[in-house]
Amino acid sequence: MPKLKFKSETYTLNKYESVLDCLLRNRQSIPYACRAGMCQACLVRAVDCEATPESKKWIKESLQKKGYTLACQWVPDTDVEAALPTVQEFSVQTRIRSIDHLNSSIIRLLLDVVDKSAMFHYFPGQYVTLINPQGIARSYSVANDYEKDQYLEFHISHTAEGVFTGWLFGQAQPGDILHMRGPAGDCFYSSSSGNDFPVILAGIGTGLAPLYAILQDALAQGHEGEITLYHGGRTTDHLYYVEELKALEKAHSNFRYIPCAREGEGKMRVEGLGEGSVEDAIDAYLDTGSLNQTRVYLCGAPAFVHGLRKKIFLKGASSGNIHCDPFLERSVAPTGGTR
Ligand SMILES: Cc1cc2nc3c(=O)[nH]c(=O)nc-3n(C[C@H](O)[C@H](O)[C@H](O)COP(=O)(O)OP(=O)(O)OC[C@H]3O[C@@H](n4cnc5c(N)ncnc54)[C@H](O)[C@@H]3O)c2cc1C
Ligand code: FES
Repeated sequence: MPKLKFKSETYTLNKYESVLDCLLRNRQSIPYACRAGMCQACLVRAVDCEATPESKKWIKESLQKKGYTLACQWVPDTDVEAALPTVQEFSVQTRIRSIDHLNSSIIRLLLDVVDKSAMFHYFPGQYVTLINPQGIARSYSVANDYEKDQYLEFHISHTAEGVFTGWLFGQAQPGDILHMRGPAGDCFYSSSSGNDFPVILAGIGTGLAPLYAILQDALAQGHEGEITLYHGGRTTDHLYYVEELKALEKAHSNFRYIPCAREGEGKMRVEGLGEGSVEDAIDAYLDTGSLNQTRVYLCGAPAFVHGLRKKIFLKGASSGNIHCDPFLERSVAPTGGTR
């Protein structure tokens, strides 16, 4: 079996075992979250060896050229050596400007970039990896356009027993430093093929973060087609930015905002669409016309994103026009793992 050298230790890889899983099995502390090639938290450098093409294809070419790859996707078939990048390598230093509550379980986190010349370009709607002072790395979607606002906005919900959000909701303070890597993801607006196609934006909970960025970007670029935003929460108390979205609806005749709540006293009624979940509201919309030209963006909990993607595809939307960001939670390695 191939051997893996890491720091001063050498381990034997199991059959089909990734570098990440081997290191976690051997109690090495290495940042990771999704184990699916999405979050880029597990970036490592291949030392004096070549990582497999499958493990490199997920990251920027400039990083690939320097030997970087994703440990969770790297399944070596020869002896290899891996090293961790320092947190400063390839990350932008940011400082917490403010943390405030959008509702009882969601906060808005605003970050300033410490050295503006180091900031990378991203398209509003893409996500980045945030690394806290303890080295815990998680992905979050950017909810605004840094180039316009000169700060970064995130909407983050509290996860029970979650490591990163536990720190963020319990101890983080304005002034604290977070490192940021990225960007990644294909949920962003593009007018390269015109600006009059219909757009559906649908999300639940903090799935609104990337959708809000995409919406603002599309409106700023003068999108002329109809844009419909469905935002769902369990109850109306779980929604946020309701007033801001209603104001945008008033200001733009081609924008329609459909808040949805599955249960509770305040369950919202949407005229002509019945009431209930985002799925119910979209069902009613899907029966009204063709999805041939419609561009669809789906963000939030993976079960919601995958379920709706299938439904919308079967109703006739082209798969190339459906853009998804499932907010995958950390996938705990079979052997555990501390981060
Ligand atoms: C592309 C992408 C974009 C995202 N964007 C956003 C966003 O904009 N806003 C947002 O709020 N979230 C977003 N997320 C989710 C985010 O990355 C985190 O997964 C989330 O904040 C939880 O992180 P955490 O460290 O608090 O929880 P974690 O510590 O990762 O825990 C997650 C769950 O696993 C359980 N768990 C933890 N450790 C163990 C263990 N050892 N054994 C068994 N179970 C365990 C926890 O109880 C918890 O339920 C996004 C995710 C992705 C992939
Ligand atoms: S990309 Fe490897 S853990 Fe997320």
